[in-house]
Amino acid sequence: MDGNELIKKLEGLVPAFSEGLDQAFSLEDLEALRIEFLGRKGRLAEIMAALPAISSEDRPLAGRTANEVKGRLTDLFDGRKAALEQAKDDSASATFDPTMPGRAPWRGSLHPVTLVMEEICGIFKGLGYDIVTGPEVENDYYNFEALNIPADHPARDMQDTLYVTDSIVLRTHTSPLQVRTMLARKPPVAIVAPGKVYRRDSDLTHTPMFHQIEGLLVDTDVSMGDLRGTLTSFVRQVFGADVKVRFRPSFFPFTEPSAEVDISCVMCGGKGRVDGKPCRVCKETGWVEILGSGMVDPAVFKAVGYDPEKYTGFAFGLGVERVAMLKYGIGDLRMFFENDVRFLGQF
Ligand code: DAH
Repeated sequence: MDGNELIKKLEGLVPAFSEGLDQAFSLEDLEALRIEFLGRKGRLAEIMAALPAISSEDRPLAGRTANEVKGRLTDLFDGRKAALEQAKDDSASATFDPTMPGRAPWRGSLHPVTLVMEEICGIFKGLGYDIVTGPEVENDYYNFEALNIPADHPARDMQDTLYVTDSIVLRTHTSPLQVRTMLARKPPVAIVAPGKVYRRDSDLTHTPMFHQIEGLLVDTDVSMGDLRGTLTSFVRQVFGADVKVRFRPSFFPFTEPSAEVDISCVMCGGKGRVDGKPCRVCKETGWVEILGSGMVDPAVFKAVGYDPEKYTGFAFGLGVERVAMLKYGIGDLRMFFENDVRFLGQF
């Protein structure tokens, strides 16, 4: 190899190295390139090994060229390395971009059962009633016995009631709060009691757990007229002023007389038909039942030590899911318990 050839080879390293740099996208790529060109056994060293063999005339120029080329390659290497390191830092800090739109936190909403419970309790609170709560695991005495439901009453059947032991049940209604309240307070008494109740029942329109609100007013001279006035005004606040209300004779062991309260059907407006077809909600009757009520039976007063000669009172009980279904036009009871946020978010 003569001097010229060696110098040409040396100078050829610069464009070759530049080309390699263009393909080096990481510090690892760059290091591999450095070893290939500038390493102890790299391409530069290889050419330099031929230096002693060329003529002493050409050797000084070749030597200088070799140094220049080495300096060029080193500069190019350093420049690329700095750029790659900068890019790496930038991408690390790019995970925080203060101009990105924020992620809106999910907004919760109250369950329709909670909403209806709060609305109803709010109405009675406005009338001066206290809100009371009690245990869901209840003594037979409060759930049945003191409410004039004797041991052979069909309501006690294992078919309906979830028994914990022979004398302890999951309460089948919120009526035990009548008993608990009257045992704890002297008249006058005005309470509403919201809460969960349990029955061995599960199909399209029944769930083993649902919610009730019990109401009780006891004083001297409480009449059936008070019951009618209070419940009519309550029902109109919940369902609107135009709704028709009727009281239908019924039976409950703990009230005498007893009445169920119907309202004109919210679906068909009391007409019994929707678009010429039978109304599904009221089954063409034009009425839907929304609560049970009555004048407190003297037997209940005796059980709690109130004088039935001195005091009278009325009581009522309603199913919260049922009211919510009618109020919001919900067709399927199971919706309340599936906890689908697309459903729950609508209220
Ligand atoms: N406890 C009854 C039930 O679960 C509802 C009820 C009816 C409550 C009449 C009352 C009442 O206080 O007077 O079906």
